[in-house]
Amino acid sequence: MSTPTLEKHSSALDAAEDSASHLITVTLRIRRFNPEVSDEAVWVDYLLDIDPKERVLDALHKVKWEMDGTLTFRRSCAHGVCGSDAMRINGRNRLACKTLIKDLNPDKPITVEPIKGLTVLKDLIVDMDPFFQAYRDVMPFLITKGNEPTRERLQSPEDRARFDDTTKCILCAACTSACPVFWNDGQYFGPAAIVNAHRFIFDSRDEGGEQRLEILNDKDGVWRCRTTFNCTDACPRGIEVTKAIQEVKRALITRRF
Ligand code: SF4
Ligand code: FES
Repeated sequence: MSTPTLEKHSSALDAAEDSASHLITVTLRIRRFNPEVSDEAVWVDYLLDIDPKERVLDALHKVKWEMDGTLTFRRSCAHGVCGSDAMRINGRNRLACKTLIKDLNPDKPITVEPIKGLTVLKDLIVDMDPFFQAYRDVMPFLITKGNEPTRERLQSPEDRARFDDTTKCILCAACTSACPVFWNDGQYFGPAAIVNAHRFIFDSRDEGGEQRLEILNDKDGVWRCRTTFNCTDACPRGIEVTKAIQEVKRALITRRF
């Protein structure tokens, strides 16, 4: 009668051994900062046994849950949707939940640090207020004047396709915090705000395009972009960020959108 239990136990053991055989040892080198302890950030190494098919977010969880509970970082969905875990991993902006250990040359220490251009509050957490203020400033919502339809506002597939790319933004700030213009003074609206302005400027149902263009015609608006493509390279959603900025610039010149 006890055989099935024994068999189950042994297969569970096999599975555990099998999964342990896939583990590799990696060094996670995390830039730690706690303003209550020191004004200086320090790099701290954590040695982990981890399956290389796991993600940097899993490695961070391992550190936090098993080694040092004081490690602080943001994450929510863990599946590339909420945009809360953008960080610099091996010197490049990425989402920790979308970055596999095996893709990072795990023979060398994997560096993890906060995104640049925004004030670091603690460890990997930056102050996102300036980023979201720029987003709010471009009025990222549908603006219409009267004539409320009794059903949904209709739009042709072609008109919908016009701004499809910029609807994919998850507001992770990977683009804005990869932009050297934004690093320099932080006053520039930044790629993410322009992407979200683009999403409405080119929406055939919207009537606030002129207002948004005027906002982006500001000295800290689209003309600050130097077309370095850092933003496009950084975007985890594959949005053609630089192209969207160029389209907004062109709309400002031609007033056609
Ligand atoms: S455009 Fe891409 S990188 Fe920038 S905030 Fe949106 S999703 Fe993130
Ligand atoms: S945790 Fe939500 S995007 Fe990574």
